[in-house]
Amino acid sequence: MVRDAALNIQPNPEQLAQAAADFISAQVRVKPELNILVATGHTPMATYAELARRAEAGEVDFSRATAVQLDEYLGIDDDDPRSLWGWMRRSFVEPLRLTRTVRLESPAQFGTALARLGGLDLAVLGLGPNGHLGFNEPPSLPDAPTRTLALTPASLESNRAYWGELAVPEGAITAGMDVILAARQTLLLVGGTHKRAVLHAALKGPETPEVPASFLRRTALTVIADEAAWA
Ligand code: PGA
Repeated sequence: MVRDAALNIQPNPEQLAQAAADFISAQVRVKPELNILVATGHTPMATYAELARRAEAGEVDFSRATAVQLDEYLGIDDDDPRSLWGWMRRSFVEPLRLTRTVRLESPAQFGTALARLGGLDLAVLGLGPNGHLGFNEPPSLPDAPTRTLALTPASLESNRAYWGELAVPEGAITAGMDVILAARQTLLLVGGTHKRAVLHAALKGPETPEVPASFLRRTALTVIADEAAWA
């Protein structure tokens, strides 16, 4: 099934973050026990900071929500600055005052934990410059499961922006396409001119494993992008 995505274009990254924070806040008000798949990466950070501000001000309460890890590098200690678990905790779990988390450690453990939760209510996602979701690298089919894999050269290159002098780990584990596409709502956040081509491919091009994000059109998808990414 192909649905029309709700497309919300904001003039700049600040307003993108406000709109995304509004969307996520509304969801947790309707369902305080919201199960949220949480992307790291640069794009959602201003949104998480705004949610943290709102949580601090008592405008929204995430204390009964559960944060679910989207992806992780392999062979990284918890105290390594490159730990995506650490990044999720520092940017989302701690500032928003969540008390419940699901860590992505192995496909079996993750599947059991998600089944116990009753599935995901909301997947908050960034868009890889190569069209990946989490570390579902192209090509990824819609039924690609939670798995370990080798990162593509494109992702090694884009992830270099996060870690300065530190090397980007070459192996990763990702929540599967099957997990992401089964979320009851998906929220895709996209900013910057460097995402323009891939955003158009994801929303207007053919559904293809070469652009894993193109399969999001099968979901209840909301896209919040800035003008730079859409114009
Ligand atoms: P970014 O990463 O938000 O840092 O652009 C997105 C991604 O690679 O999934």
